[in-house]
Amino acid sequence: MSEKARVAIFDTTLRDGEQSPGCSMNLGEKMLMARQLDELGVDIIEAGFPIASEGDFEAVRAVAAEIRRPIIAGLARAIPGDIDRAWQALRKAARPRIHVFLATSDIHLKYKLKITREQCVKQIAEAVRMASTFCPDVEFSPEDATRTELEFLCTVTEAAVEAGATTINIPDTVGYTMPQDYTRIITAVRERAELIRPVVISAHCHNDLGMAVANSIAAVEAGARQVECTINGVGERAGNASLEEFVMATRVRRDVLPYETAIDARQLYPASQLLSEITGVSVQPNKAIVGRNAFAHEAGIHQDGVIKNPLTYEIMTPQSVGVPDNRLVLGKHSGRHALARHCERLGYQFERRDLDRIYKRFVALADQIKTVEDRHLLAIIREDITTSVVPVFAEGKTAGLGRAAGTS
Ligand code: KIV
Ligand code: ZN
Repeated sequence: MSEKARVAIFDTTLRDGEQSPGCSMNLGEKMLMARQLDELGVDIIEAGFPIASEGDFEAVRAVAAEIRRPIIAGLARAIPGDIDRAWQALRKAARPRIHVFLATSDIHLKYKLKITREQCVKQIAEAVRMASTFCPDVEFSPEDATRTELEFLCTVTEAAVEAGATTINIPDTVGYTMPQDYTRIITAVRERAELIRPVVISAHCHNDLGMAVANSIAAVEAGARQVECTINGVGERAGNASLEEFVMATRVRRDVLPYETAIDARQLYPASQLLSEITGVSVQPNKAIVGRNAFAHEAGIHQDGVIKNPLTYEIMTPQSVGVPDNRLVLGKHSGRHALARHCERLGYQFERRDLDRIYKRFVALADQIKTVEDRHLLAIIREDITTSVVPVFAEGKTAGLGRAAGTS
């Protein structure tokens, strides 16, 4: 396969992510998260929306002052007060970026902004020009781009490029687009912008129809070279494209997705955990890559396969994304093989006949409770030991019962 194209990861956990219910963070929490994002290797951290509040301003300023490797972006509406405030927050950054946005769809122009298309183009050009006087790195986002008439979208993005924008972001603000639509939109905007000069085209997808990562991939295939995403997919309403899902799709399916990011995948799970810990918003158990069940196997056939060779039911290793270990969950679908593994991990090896007896007790309990945890299994073993069997200690393992079971 030919050389891989590099895709920049623009993390907006601290801005769009923070806008989701329950995800607001104070300054100290934002700093912890920003350090973790730096460790993860993201290219751009959108640290906040400085005009939104004093807290947001201070957070952007603090992130900009401390985090030196990635670009630090601050969001601003296309109005002078916002742009000025964003620059005040960003001026200490080693690599600042002002991110200017203005809605461009007819529904937003008519009902929200109450301006004409002509006024919209003029406002965009003036705002981008003003931002460019502060710093050379300016991103422009036509909000609700995917519901904007395509010819008008090309007109506004051309105006932004001519005024000095270096990145053109195409937000699917309401999570409405489909991969084939987004491909067409990104291609048209890119081709028209490139007639003026080279710029980076960026994808920003919301997940209202569950398409955010698929749409981001479609954008990259159409020539976008920046993807805006968040840890755990947090963000407005149904959230943004999940960073971990996009990155791992390009790693696991490198055969069909020849794109490279600078992400250290082993930091994905720690980043996910940190965000949940800070916000108190837990990740759904079946969430891809970082959910509690993403590497858990309960069905007996699956457990048996994973024990023999993890590749039977795992397309990536838990370790590759920083998950400490895969989890063989003991439930009513588990088989003897998995039960024996768990017993060994707890310090016990059983002969076949003894294991059969333990297994019977285990199945009876698993029928009553969903998941059999270590403490339940230890209770079963303890009960079995006191009534009948003399187990053989697994070599080098501890009993876990507080006494040497073999001597009782
Ligand atoms: O979804 C959106 O349109 C945004 C813009 C501000 C980029 O978040
Ligand atoms: Zn958004």
